Amino acid sequence: MSIVGQGIDRVDARLKVTGTATYSAEHKLPNVAYAVIVQSTIPKGRIAAIDSAAAEAMPGVLAVLTHQNAPRLAKPHGSETKQGGGEQSKPDQKQSPPTPKLTLLQEDRVYYNGQPVALVVADTFERARDAAQHVRLRYAAEPALLDFAKAKQKLRRPEPQPERPSDTGRGNVERSLQRAATRVDLLYTTPMENHNPIEPHATIAQWEGDRLTLYDTTQNISGAQRTAALSFGMPPEQVRVVCPFVGGGFGSKGTTWSHVVLAAIAAKAVQRPVKLVLDRTQMYGPVGARPLTEQRLVLGANAQGKLAAIRHDTISSTATLDDFTEPCTSVSRILYASDSLQTSQRLATLDVGVPTYMRAPGEASGSFALESALDELAYRLKMDPVALRLANYAEKDPEKDIPWSSKSLRECYRAGAERFGWARRNPKPGAMRDGRTLVGWGMATATYPANRKGAKAVAALLPDGTAVVRSGSHDLGTGTYTVMSQIAADALGMPISRIRFQLGDTTMPEAPVSGGSQTVASVGPAVHQAARALRDKLIATATADTASPLHGLGAGDVNAVDGWLVARADPSRRVQMSTVVTRAGGQPIVANASAEQGDEKKRYSMHAFGAVFVEVHIDPDVGTIHVPRVVGAYGIGRMMNAKTTHSQLMGGIVWGLGMGLMEKTEMDWRFGRAVNANLADYHVPVNADCGAIDIIVVDEEDKQINELGAKGVGEIGITGVAAAIANAVYHATGKRIRDLPITPDKVMV
Ligand code: MOS
Repeated sequence: MSIVGQGIDRVDARLKVTGTATYSAEHKLPNVAYAVIVQSTIPKGRIAAIDSAAAEAMPGVLAVLTHQNAPRLAKPHGSETKQGGGEQSKPDQKQSPPTPKLTLLQEDRVYYNGQPVALVVADTFERARDAAQHVRLRYAAEPALLDFAKAKQKLRRPEPQPERPSDTGRGNVERSLQRAATRVDLLYTTPMENHNPIEPHATIAQWEGDRLTLYDTTQNISGAQRTAALSFGMPPEQVRVVCPFVGGGFGSKGTTWSHVVLAAIAAKAVQRPVKLVLDRTQMYGPVGARPLTEQRLVLGANAQGKLAAIRHDTISSTATLDDFTEPCTSVSRILYASDSLQTSQRLATLDVGVPTYMRAPGEASGSFALESALDELAYRLKMDPVALRLANYAEKDPEKDIPWSSKSLRECYRAGAERFGWARRNPKPGAMRDGRTLVGWGMATATYPANRKGAKAVAALLPDGTAVVRSGSHDLGTGTYTVMSQIAADALGMPISRIRFQLGDTTMPEAPVSGGSQTVASVGPAVHQAARALRDKLIATATADTASPLHGLGAGDVNAVDGWLVARADPSRRVQMSTVVTRAGGQPIVANASAEQGDEKKRYSMHAFGAVFVEVHIDPDVGTIHVPRVVGAYGIGRMMNAKTTHSQLMGGIVWGLGMGLMEKTEMDWRFGRAVNANLADYHVPVNADCGAIDIIVVDEEDKQINELGAKGVGEIGITGVAAAIANAVYHATGKRIRDLPITPDKVMV
């Protein structure tokens, strides 16, 4: 049985539980100084005057950097690339860093409240933080646009993105709607949210001559390398980015934000390594957020529930400094087989920090609207919500008119419904009670695209029999170390205990951003190919060696098993892989691989699908909502590791509980500043908020998607969950909540 797929423990588990896994702020550098950012207190205007004398005179202060004295950069806003990366980049643009415009102390302009406007560097963190309080800034404030209703009066079309056009359509939606027996026309809203990884954003910058090393917590070491290089006008080879562990990212560490370059500016100014760690409150503004959305969903169906028209119009908030589009319509474009469809994406610009990718950007927010609307339609039709979805099952990609690489959604509905006990549901709202407690059952479809990008890897066998395999990828707590070790062990024919997989360093072969749930599908094939190439080299070396028991055999005559090369015809003829290395001179034997996607994406539409079923318990007096159980069934291709896969999907569902019931960045719209910028007031689910989460992974074979058959499981878990909760809340109470999060006050009134 192959090691790939087995639910082995994380190979880095011991490091984590013993606290010896080194996170970015924990790298020990001699003579390190500490930088603290000073943030603007107005949303828009100019810095009229700065008085840093008091701060500069404080003990231990090494520098106070502002736009007046900071070194001039080659690119004043970092990269000029607009939303060019992440999962949405063009294949031919994969070298462009996915970086919004940065604010790097290059000008006096203030674009949003909380923007870094000064940087205090001192010999201790406490002294830097203290002095940061004493930098005096005077502003020439200008009227800021912080009213979404007003911003909507000047809507803009987003710049076209590959796979993400601002407008799409097929058939004639208006005519189909006129003829439809049943219609719903509904408005859904989702709030601004912040990512809140447990590990805050942190960078240590060190210059050695004109070479820069960044210890940075990031989902994209190569992106950070390119952004830093562009900022300082240096070739990327002069920048090294190191990141062996990431304590959660959720998209906020997929782009390189201002503080990364600011740490390097500070290190240059004080001629010492500089550590810059954002505190929790500083992470609300300068490092991205999920934008707020307003989505209109119009559905038309015949009496049997067959959809004739889908219309999905999205407005999402963006920022003056740079654009980001929350692509909510992506789900509606592919999920159901409607003859006519019309979608649009529009942007409403606010004077806030630039929004960014967060936990299935588009699919999470879009599926809330679409899957709520489908439930509302099911009630109008007096039809079971699962039956309605089956009646509109898309047998092929309805937009591209090409087959799916694989799709097991029917089996997901069946397996999920069976495990949940859906057949026992009384559809009448309020009909299922447990004493005074209102009980609701709701469901929704889940989906996320199967993304892939080019990636490289190297594999080397050392004379001691250890295989070192490297790729410049990331482990966000997701299991990359473990899964890549499994893939390498399998391809090499070695026990996993002899594999040392390494990642998180730009001196390694390049891998793409760990976003868009694409790490396994991108890096996995590169690791697989490098390990295969190494195995082939070992076989070639052994069979060419006149003293080897395998001498003279052809490549196909030799097998690699458990660290040995073995003659297929006669297993007594065998040699240890380590012996092959020592006999060949003792230098490591090395093989490289570069894995790119072929044209399969043109021929097949590649998505993961699932179905999620939720039970809610609501206190009728105070409106509190508990979710005692969730069942999620998913078709995600081949499972790489049963344990980490279940953990990923479970984690996604927990995000969904947060999105559905708790998460909202509460802005004071007079000032454009978050008022709940801490983990006491910004609610995320804790253990007590999560009931039983039951994950089913259905058997699915996908021969088209990549050589591993893996679709990626990072984000699909969140999709559909907020809608399933909203649908369950309606079932329990008869109240339809179309505005996230579904808090007790909305259920009570
Ligand atoms: Mo994910 S939001 O693509 O890091």
